[in-house]
Amino acid sequence: MRRKLAAGNWKMHGLAADLPEVDQLAALYPAAPVDIVLCPPAPLIDRMAARVATGVIALGGQTCHPAIKGAHTGDISAQMLADAGARYVILGHSERRADHRETDTIVRAQARAAIEAGLVAIICLGETEAERDAGRTLEVVTAQLAGSLPDRATGDTCVVAYEPVWAIGTGRVPSPDQIAEVHGALRRALTGHLGADTAEAIRLLYGGSVKPDNAAGIFAIPDVDGALVGGASLKAADFAAIIDALAAS
Ligand code: 13P
Repeated sequence: MRRKLAAGNWKMHGLAADLPEVDQLAALYPAAPVDIVLCPPAPLIDRMAARVATGVIALGGQTCHPAIKGAHTGDISAQMLADAGARYVILGHSERRADHRETDTIVRAQARAAIEAGLVAIICLGETEAERDAGRTLEVVTAQLAGSLPDRATGDTCVVAYEPVWAIGTGRVPSPDQIAEVHGALRRALTGHLGADTAEAIRLLYGGSVKPDNAAGIFAIPDVDGALVGGASLKAADFAAIIDALAAS
């Protein structure tokens, strides 16, 4: 049985003044109805860690370097994220793939480093609008999965997040059939790569304009094990509504 997971990606949002949102969220969940993760900008991780000491809310980074340490100015290693209090790291987000040219090969190397450091890798993939319009969605996402997934992927070390690029920050969401089609294809592809038992244990998240008012519908879709939430994870009340919808699904 896969544990449901609600992950919030704060992207490049969040200052010390936003930390009370985390206190509010922690106050709402003395116990975990589902797995809850917040991925703030790296400078906030250790300050957040002090505020979520019960462990109900886990923390994550938003990328990591494939190397443990070295002369890589401006980069952050998986070990550093873990040391700061993170238990997860988002990898291969489409914004990183676009802004920082992170390829599948790089994402796989990052995922290996993350697992080595004891982090759970949340591996993101998704088609652009042009790729969907060209009827290439399944081809694109299965190729990204094949290229990005580390050999050591298990249900304990990896999560896969399907995030159609055209649905991120736009208020547009694929239809339930479209999400079910992609998640079904990803589950079959995972089975091909890792065998049925391991594939069944890996959680598949949907991400892209998940909001309090559409979350329940998304969580009713087969093979959706949770969400990777951007904008609606910044406010405790909005993220809590999504967590509650997931818990009720
Ligand atoms: P939004 O929820 O703001 O569309 O962002 C989704 C996302 O990119 C999460 O990683």
